[in-house]
Amino acid sequence: MIELAPSILSADFARLGEQVNRAAEGGGTVIHVDVMDGHFVPNITLGPQLVKSLRKATRLPLDCHLMIENPDTYIPAFADAGADWMSVHLEACRHLDRTLNLIRSHGCQAGVVINPATPVELLSEVLDIVDYVLVMSVNPGFGAQPFIPNSLHKLSRLKDLRERRNLHYRIEVDGGIASDTVAKVVRAGAEILVAGNAVFSHGDPKTNAENLLKAALDATLLKV
Ligand code: DX5
Ligand code: ZN
Repeated sequence: MIELAPSILSADFARLGEQVNRAAEGGGTVIHVDVMDGHFVPNITLGPQLVKSLRKATRLPLDCHLMIENPDTYIPAFADAGADWMSVHLEACRHLDRTLNLIRSHGCQAGVVINPATPVELLSEVLDIVDYVLVMSVNPGFGAQPFIPNSLHKLSRLKDLRERRNLHYRIEVDGGIASDTVAKVVRAGAEILVAGNAVFSHGDPKTNAENLLKAALDATLLKV
């Protein structure tokens, strides 16, 4: 099943509740929340307080993408604030197994994220303990960057590995997802599509979400 996860990074933070609900009306089923600390990535965004407010504004699952160093320190606070899914970067975790188990111990779905320069192979020992794998198709830190095509073979590889090892993680992609890239990522194996700029930066988030989802579904139909 294909799902659209609108990323609030490109939303108008002063009208966040309204914009998120508009994207949900257009078919968004997961709200992607980008947490940046100014250390792991060169940008700063938001913390648990905003997640707590968002929790009151929508019933959709909140997918917190932690682009931060020392995630273990902050995972409990994000869980308390109402995060449903939490993902951490392989590149930011010294004890990745411990961190993923910490997320699960808080009752959240646990995801692992890899940057464009990180190979899928480095995930081999954690694929059986994650609920989802997030493939970055831009270098994390900012919205509206161009899609990096190298991520396509990683999506296919994750799909193959899942089948071969009889695992159940879902495959998410994040960065540069728009009308010109959505079909490619879906055909390569992406199931959860994060989109910020394409949903929130212009026009109506509802119409934008509808158009993106339609393109994604068309791509799955054409595949068979
Ligand atoms: C980038 C963030 C993304 C970002 C994607 O570091 O992780 O979630 O919002 O934005 P677009 O869809 O604009 O590339
Ligand atoms: Zn993200």
